[in-house]
Amino acid sequence: MSLFTANPSPAVAAILDDLAFPRLKALVIDTTGMAFYRDKDGDLARILAERMAEIGCGDCAAYLGLLQSQGQGKAEMDALIAELTIGETYFFRHKEQFDALRDLILPEVIERNRPVRRLRIWSAGCATGPEPYSVAIMLEREFGDRIAGWHVTVLGTDINQKFLTRAREGRYDEWAFRTMPDSLRAACFERAGSQWQIRPEFKRNVSFQYHNLIKSPFPSLADNIAGFDIIICRNVIIYFSQATVESLVPCFHESLNDGGWLIMGHAEPNQRLFSRFRTVNTPGAVLYQRVDRPDEAVVEKAPPSPPPSSLPPPLPKPAPLPAGRGEPSKAAPLRRVRPPVPSRPPPAPAVPAAGPSEGGDRLKVARDLADSGQWEKAAAACDAIIAAVPLDAWAHFYRAMVHEQLGEDEPCEKALRRAIYLDRRLVLPHYHLGLFLARKDDAAGAVRSFRNAQALLAGLADEQPVNPGEKITVGQMREAVAMHLKLVGGA
Ligand SMILES: C[S@@+](CC[C@H](N)C(=O)[O-])C[C@H]1O[C@@H](n2cnc3c(N)ncnc32)[C@H](O)[C@@H]1O
Repeated sequence: MSLFTANPSPAVAAILDDLAFPRLKALVIDTTGMAFYRDKDGDLARILAERMAEIGCGDCAAYLGLLQSQGQGKAEMDALIAELTIGETYFFRHKEQFDALRDLILPEVIERNRPVRRLRIWSAGCATGPEPYSVAIMLEREFGDRIAGWHVTVLGTDINQKFLTRAREGRYDEWAFRTMPDSLRAACFERAGSQWQIRPEFKRNVSFQYHNLIKSPFPSLADNIAGFDIIICRNVIIYFSQATVESLVPCFHESLNDGGWLIMGHAEPNQRLFSRFRTVNTPGAVLYQRVDRPDEAVVEKAPPSPPPSSLPPPLPKPAPLPAGRGEPSKAAPLRRVRPPVPSRPPPAPAVPAAGPSEGGDRLKVARDLADSGQWEKAAAACDAIIAAVPLDAWAHFYRAMVHEQLGEDEPCEKALRRAIYLDRRLVLPHYHLGLFLARKDDAAGAVRSFRNAQALLAGLADEQPVNPGEKITVGQMREAVAMHLKLVGGA
């Protein structure tokens, strides 16, 4: 039993006795996945009491109505989530996993990606940012020479907007460095009063975006959540129900490139749950690798020795995998996952199917290929549609997304502008052009593009897909646009 249920304040007691409390609790758990609160009524009621007092809301039914309302609902849900979520985190948390990242995973991925010179890493549930920044620090200091000139992305996502704001600032108290050597901190951070500010060279490849693991479908290239080499999701699923976790694992699997790695919290290993992955044990860490073609797996190779560094000393080499571990799982796909992406696009239909795109089914194939990180095949599929239907705005849009993933800036911008030229009503090309221009420090251009996207979204129902066939909803897009507008100073 929680401390708060033992002797609740009158406001908390009133919430616990309120007939609408169970519905409010169900909404909170359904929105965040935090089944953690299932048996913590006292804690939840205390947080609700604080929020409701702050905005002058009298009872649970009224607050429920507000959370579900079209206008203010989203902002209030964000404010509530900011109080509900637990953001405990620090730099290089659980050293053994970072050792495995440095000694096994990064050397292997970098070697494999050498021909394409790119690297995509996702920290899902990144809280205030130490996890993605730790990865960026390791990349820069340990592998900087090997990946110089590469297109590197370290993406941190979270459901808590306040955490994301702090993550973007990159300024931390002493406590965030509790296990990091002082010398390493001094090399990577600058003093900022009583805090420490991360240096720009460790920040430039790191970006942050809102993403709710429960409500935002993934993989989704249009949402920038696809085609990762490494996914780190630590100390997040511990708050979710077993059923939720089971539905997420296939999504992580699909969001990885073939050969990509999943790192979960050190206390979360589960052979059955991750059975579709190859399990790799290193001292103090259990890692999961997506292996679509087991005979081509490369983990048995000894990792190249890392260059000298000021990070903690390397671990012994991981033991070779026991025979039989490489078999891909035969487990049936779970409910959230899309059907497996075909390894080769099926022959193009002679007549384009009806739908949002002239390219019809062929476009879906291209999008699925892109969502699963098969960039070259996705590019070829888009090019084939464009050759057949040159005015297909969607084909140009997905081609732009693939250009972006390949670090091809100029063709990416051109393809986005072409998609917009061909159909000004599509929200996603405006949004992605905004992101592109923001990255290029063209704030005025970015503001224009985000405002265009905003205008197109006006009046649409939150729950409908942002564009036909897309997984992102209008509500999610609205929120993403508003956040980016704010970041570029347009709101
Ligand atoms: C304990 S922190 C973990 C931080 C970091 N991964 C680490 O291990 O140091 C858990 C994070 O998960 C986030 N979270 C909780 N529910 C989430 C959801 N449905 N989608 C995305 N993030 C979520 C919380 O906001 C919080 O920042």
